[in-house]
Amino acid sequence: MKILILFAHPAFHKSRVNKVLVDGLSDHKGVTFHDLYDHYPEFDIDVEHEQELLSQHDCIIFHYPLFWYSTPAIIKEWQDLVLEHGWAYGSNGNALKGKLFFCAITTGGPELAYKVGSFNNHTLNQTAALCQMIPLPPFVVHGTHAIENDGILDYKNDYYKILQEIIDEKIDKEKASKLKYLNDYLMKEKV
Ligand SMILES: Cc1cc2nc3c(=O)[nH]c(=O)nc-3n(C[C@H](O)[C@H](O)[C@H](O)COP(=O)(O)O)c2cc1C
Repeated sequence: MKILILFAHPAFHKSRVNKVLVDGLSDHKGVTFHDLYDHYPEFDIDVEHEQELLSQHDCIIFHYPLFWYSTPAIIKEWQDLVLEHGWAYGSNGNALKGKLFFCAITTGGPELAYKVGSFNNHTLNQTAALCQMIPLPPFVVHGTHAIENDGILDYKNDYYKILQEIIDEKIDKEKASKLKYLNDYLMKEKV
């Protein structure tokens, strides 16, 4: 499987956690790392190019820091423009059918501050489902303000392992879809 990571961080120069998480992803075999703010600093999203990229991949990931309980703005703009009626959804809109979808999110707040679906991941998964994609739970790094550097590397390790499971088509979608967080997929594997 080929993975497309749509990454959005409006202040990447200030990033501590995502800087580590995404470091090396562009060189990862099977992954296309697409930094939306880097490509479209003026929000002039090339819809045709984005749709072409989506068509070439089997798993789509929105990767972003949670800002105001939501995605950074460019992800909303991207959805509004790229997910066209008759292409992504609607009676003839089958371009994304059967592709895997999930979010990789970092949050300043601790896990305790969030109930399942209490951040915007829920609405994004609904969007994915409308586009006939297969939504999976999010991969989440909570408590970024307090996390130590070693802790970030542990998350990075788990993120890469999950990406590899997907690339190798080893991921058990049914099992994964029942989890609260995709992070737990590996814990279950270890038992
Ligand atoms: C403008 C702004 C809004 C934020 N909103 C939230 C929020 O709603 N919930 C939350 O848990 N953290 C929030 N945070 C914290 C970020 O999610 C956190 O700083 C980020 O995930 C850390 O990743 P980074 O080191 O890659 O920047 C916000 C941060 C900023 C700058």
